[in-house]
Amino acid sequence: MKNDVREQIQQLKKEKNAVILAHYYCDDAVQQLADFVGDSFYLAKVAKSSSADVLVFCGVSFMGESAKILNPEKTVLMPDLAADCAMAHMASIEKIEEMRTAYPDLAVVCYINSTAELKCHSDVCVTSSNALKIVGALPNQNIFFIPDENLGNFVKKNVPEKNVMVNKGYCPIHKAISAAAVLAEKQKHPDAVVLAHPECTGEVLALADMVGSTAEIIQYAKTSNTTSFIVCTEVGVGFELRLDNPDKRFYFPEPCPCCLDMKLNTPEKILEVLKTGKNAVTVDEEVRERALLPLDRMLELAK
Ligand code: 13P
Ligand code: SF4
Repeated sequence: MKNDVREQIQQLKKEKNAVILAHYYCDDAVQQLADFVGDSFYLAKVAKSSSADVLVFCGVSFMGESAKILNPEKTVLMPDLAADCAMAHMASIEKIEEMRTAYPDLAVVCYINSTAELKCHSDVCVTSSNALKIVGALPNQNIFFIPDENLGNFVKKNVPEKNVMVNKGYCPIHKAISAAAVLAEKQKHPDAVVLAHPECTGEVLALADMVGSTAEIIQYAKTSNTTSFIVCTEVGVGFELRLDNPDKRFYFPEPCPCCLDMKLNTPEKILEVLKTGKNAVTVDEEVRERALLPLDRMLELAK
């Protein structure tokens, strides 16, 4: 990254009382620039509590949208409004309504990787780092988990006292990580510990020594005595993993899992939105008020 881009960003941040938030899946250069780097849950909490006037959110659209819903007085800018999460759209209101009719006590549990419209029809949001705790704490017996089938099945397995029914959405990046590719890495590095994000398929999770959100994967690697790891999630987490653990080795299954939407965030685009104020996230007020309820309930139940 050119030094003048970095300097101009620092200057504009001061002038506009702005902070930069970045997900672990963003490019190294973006993570290096950010004031807050984390997983979806951490970034939602930062967005809720920030006292800055402007939040530059380097992630995908559901993240910028959630930040605006949680903190409507703030200006939320996204470096590239085209950065979207395919999974966020993989559920339907019709199916939710059908399930509510079939199960009158149903709780619709919505992974935060979803559109604001889906959140409006849900009872509580979760992220990959709090889904087990929140589903376990709900009074409802019947749960419809949207949109992610894999995280939903992981919850079903780990909260067996609930009747968890899953929607058939998926993350194309995590779904593409094959069990064969993980086994190939294990052959090459027999002592390596396998760490996997719960968006991976059940076959991959069955090979994992540890399953967790990006932040949990990073924390595990940091505190583990093991020195080599096979990491089954998006390659961007490698930046923090190598920074925290210069003496440890991290291997990603082939082909390297890469979310191109996350990579649309660049230092140059951060500079551009800070300069111009363009790409401000807007959410219709009625939608915002409804979508806020499951997000706030998540923050409350995850405490
Ligand atoms: P976490 O941030 O909850 O680990 O989720 C990963 C993800 O896919 C974000 O889009
Ligand atoms: Fe969505 Fe998957 Fe990209 Fe995360 S990695 S933003 S779930 S497409």
